[in-house]
Amino acid sequence: MANEKIMRIGIIGCGGIANSHAKAYAANTTCEVVACCDIVPGRAKAFAEKHGFVNAKTDYKDHADMLADKSLKLDAVSVCTYNRQHVPCAKAALEAGVHVLLEKPLCVDMDEAIDLYKTVKKTGLVLSIGFQPRFDQNMQDICDIVASGELGKIYYIQTGGGRRQGIPVGNEMSFIRDDTAGIGALADIGCYSLDMVLRAVGYPKPLTVSGYMSDYFGKDPEFFFNRADKEEVAKNFGVDDFGAGFIRLEGDIILDFRISWAMHMDTPGDTIILGTKGGLRIPSTNCWNGSIGGPMTIYKTVAGKCMEMKVPLAAASNPAGPSLWDKKIGTFLDACRNGTEAPVPIDQIIYNQAIIYGIVESAKRGEEIKLDFSDIEKL
Ligand SMILES: NC(=O)c1ccc[n+]([C@@H]2O[C@H](COP(=O)([O-])OP(=O)(O)OC[C@H]3O[C@@H](n4cnc5c(N)ncnc54)[C@H](O)[C@@H]3O)[C@@H](O)[C@H]2O)c1
Repeated sequence: MANEKIMRIGIIGCGGIANSHAKAYAANTTCEVVACCDIVPGRAKAFAEKHGFVNAKTDYKDHADMLADKSLKLDAVSVCTYNRQHVPCAKAALEAGVHVLLEKPLCVDMDEAIDLYKTVKKTGLVLSIGFQPRFDQNMQDICDIVASGELGKIYYIQTGGGRRQGIPVGNEMSFIRDDTAGIGALADIGCYSLDMVLRAVGYPKPLTVSGYMSDYFGKDPEFFFNRADKEEVAKNFGVDDFGAGFIRLEGDIILDFRISWAMHMDTPGDTIILGTKGGLRIPSTNCWNGSIGGPMTIYKTVAGKCMEMKVPLAAASNPAGPSLWDKKIGTFLDACRNGTEAPVPIDQIIYNQAIIYGIVESAKRGEEIKLDFSDIEKL
């Protein structure tokens, strides 16, 4: 620790989630936040003051302006902009020689995902994507159970989750507008649910997707009944509030997925992972914060008898220890410093994004689509 380099950090986008990044950077003694920027005048300055970043420069009109300031000697940035600004900001940072912690979802369009993938490979810098639930012990237990081989060969996964009344309108409606979010529930919380199970089975390549999306609730002003601006919110709603997909993965695995911001149902179901030697039930989860609804159950047949084994629930995180956010920031900084692989690498998340893209595209076309990764496979 004594001679450890103090990493110089910039924060791009100073809205809601940037606060969680700021707190974790402030708690980490191996870095200093030296700059913050936002396209809304005054927002970055107020943000830096709120978090006590007394030496941080904030007089930038956008990310490009901040990245052009070579006096900052930035080592890394957090990109905390809304979805449609993820790739422009992350790509510009990598091209400026700066490591990137990019908020989830990776992006909106598949072309920009591939473009970003190529930029990561070209620059050799660290790009990690913001899936903090991965650092939760219960999420790790799922991976360990599958890796143990006790379930045998995995052939079917049902996953998803959602809220009954949980459309996040966000600052300036940035979660629900097409020009800022681009994709709704599918990308906002669906990406977590996909990450939970895909990571457990080693992120196999998705091959085909048949998808469905709807927006019945978001477009209805009465859904936002307790807001004075309910008509305005419904008018601005330009994304999905429900999505579902049937996905074929390499290695003969079927993934059956559904996610919701709003529905007349308590849950769209538990996650189940079926293998040739055992099954795992993960009670319906708030996948976006890594919590699961109760102890998991492993189902196996022993001596011809159907057996069930409870997996003790790990505490979501040790209140006295580092939070999921501290781990997300800490592992990112370690990877930047040591030149090791990103804790949440684009090589995996490109498949997560491809499934989301596949659902959007398939829903639009009304037919199953084949995914094509030839562009990145020949790199
Ligand atoms: N990991 C998590 O738990 C978590 C939780 C919430 C949100 N998120 C993700 O974080 C992202 C941001 O969400 P939010 O709630 O903070 O949104 P937000 O709208 O509150 O903040 C985004 C900010 O980015 C700024 N911005 C946009 N383009 C910019 C640019 N080119 N340069 C500088 N600033 C720019 C906006 O002005 C705004 O202040 C979303 O993609 C969301 O999915 C992650």
